[in-house]
Amino acid sequence: MRATQTRPTGVERTFGLDEIIVTKTDPRGVITYTNEVFLRTSALTEAEALGQAHNIIRHPDMPRAVFKLLWDTIGAGQEIFAYVLNLAVDGAHYWVFAHVTPSYDAAGGLVGYHSNRRRPDLGPVTAVKQVYERVRQAESRAGSTSAAVEAGWQALQEELGEQTYDEFVWRITNG
Ligand SMILES: Cc1cc2nc3c(=O)[nH]c(=O)nc-3n(C[C@H](O)[C@H](O)[C@H](O)COP(=O)(O)O)c2cc1C
Repeated sequence: MRATQTRPTGVERTFGLDEIIVTKTDPRGVITYTNEVFLRTSALTEAEALGQAHNIIRHPDMPRAVFKLLWDTIGAGQEIFAYVLNLAVDGAHYWVFAHVTPSYDAAGGLVGYHSNRRRPDLGPVTAVKQVYERVRQAESRAGSTSAAVEAGWQALQEELGEQTYDEFVWRITNG
């Protein structure tokens, strides 16, 4: 997979404060729609992006626990706001503040998911980086993938303390 071949160059990319990165996926997370801002920021062409799993831009520093929370939440029919670090296929990275929602057809069947992402402020990114780094460290100490998921989930709960992830996100966003 291309996602695992791309090496982070350490170059940070941003996009406009007035821009929104949009993608849609099928129920399994396969990309079915992208806007131009997504393609430019991710260094992809539309032909390269459509039909790919969304982990095509997964950054290795992102904790598994955050994606578990994302899928658990949208899989339960709820929306989620999350800070995500992405890896463009040219190796640059970019932070987003994402809002992911389920989409339904007229009969109430799940069609897929829709993500809108804005450029986050530096303050919340600094806060979220510290939390994600500790969760990621807990994951990388684990001996297997399933142990990593468990350890990361545990570490995320410890980092959040009394707050839910949603409460944490809004506290740092409005902070
Ligand atoms: C609508 C939608 C948008 C997503 N956007 C991203 C994204 O921008 N970056 C990302 O790494 N994963 C995104 N994901 C999550 C991926 O599907 C995947 O769970 C994640 O990249 C972790 O991949 P892995 O399980 O291979 O580690 C999105 C999922 C959905 C449903």
